[in-house]
Amino acid sequence: MASSVLYSLLLLLFLHNPLFSTANLFHKKSLFREELDLSESQQQPLNDTPPTLFFEVTKPIKLPNTKPCSYNILQHDFGYTYGKPPVLANYTPPSHCPSQKFSKIVFQWNATCKGRQYDRIFGVWLGGAELFRSCTAEPRATGIVWSVEKDITRYYSLLMKNQTLAVYLGNLVTKTYTGVYHVNITIQFYPAEENDVSKLGALVSKYHTRLI
Ligand SMILES: *[C@@H]1O[C@H](CO)[C@@H](O)[C@H](O)[C@H]1NC(C)=O
Ligand SMILES: *[C@@H]1O[C@H](CO)[C@@H](O)[C@H](O)[C@H]1NC(C)=O
Ligand SMILES: *[C@@H]1O[C@H](CO)[C@@H](O)[C@H](O)[C@H]1NC(C)=O
Repeated sequence: MASSVLYSLLLLLFLHNPLFSTANLFHKKSLFREELDLSESQQQPLNDTPPTLFFEVTKPIKLPNTKPCSYNILQHDFGYTYGKPPVLANYTPPSHCPSQKFSKIVFQWNATCKGRQYDRIFGVWLGGAELFRSCTAEPRATGIVWSVEKDITRYYSLLMKNQTLAVYLGNLVTKTYTGVYHVNITIQFYPAEENDVSKLGALVSKYHTRLI
């Protein structure tokens, strides 16, 4: 009887062993990562250091010569959000903008983070359509700041109606991983160039005169 109990115990231990070793491997990996991060932060004085600016390496968006109407559609701090539902907000069209005809619409993601954190995957949906999907930058003890832009003019009709905005960024905040992602999502609505409007007006009146 006693030996069969011992046998079962040994078998159980054996069966669990592969699990133990993967757990150890993961732990070693994260320890290594922490050591790396610590050595980096030890080299810099924590105070008086401005946040590091991460810049986007891409072809600039061709913008019209008009002053954009800026519309902040979400400001949120992503702390412990992993596995939670996305953050939801009611989106309403930019009725506050003086002009209601736009030739370019630009999505702008601005974020800051300070502390220790992994790079996190995130997505932005408007009325269920994916506007943007990306990955955060990895912060430093002294903080980072970055901004990403995307031309979303193709979603014009979607942007002119009430919608639900959904943003998911799965972040984990623990004693070790302290970075909270502070995010602003802004949409820049560029009115159609006055030139375009007056050209269009001239064309219409010319056509109109001819008809008369
Ligand atoms: C976002 O960042 C850009 C680039 O630094 C800046 O020009 C813009 O004013 C920022 N917008 C907001 C809402 O913080
Ligand atoms: C977001 O916008 C608010 C209000 O303009 C500003 O105080 C804050 O610093 C901004 N945060 C980021 C991450 O751009
Ligand atoms: C859109 O939402 C706003 C604010 O909630 C509301 O006042 C307005 O009636 C809505 N418009 C439509 C067309 O549903």
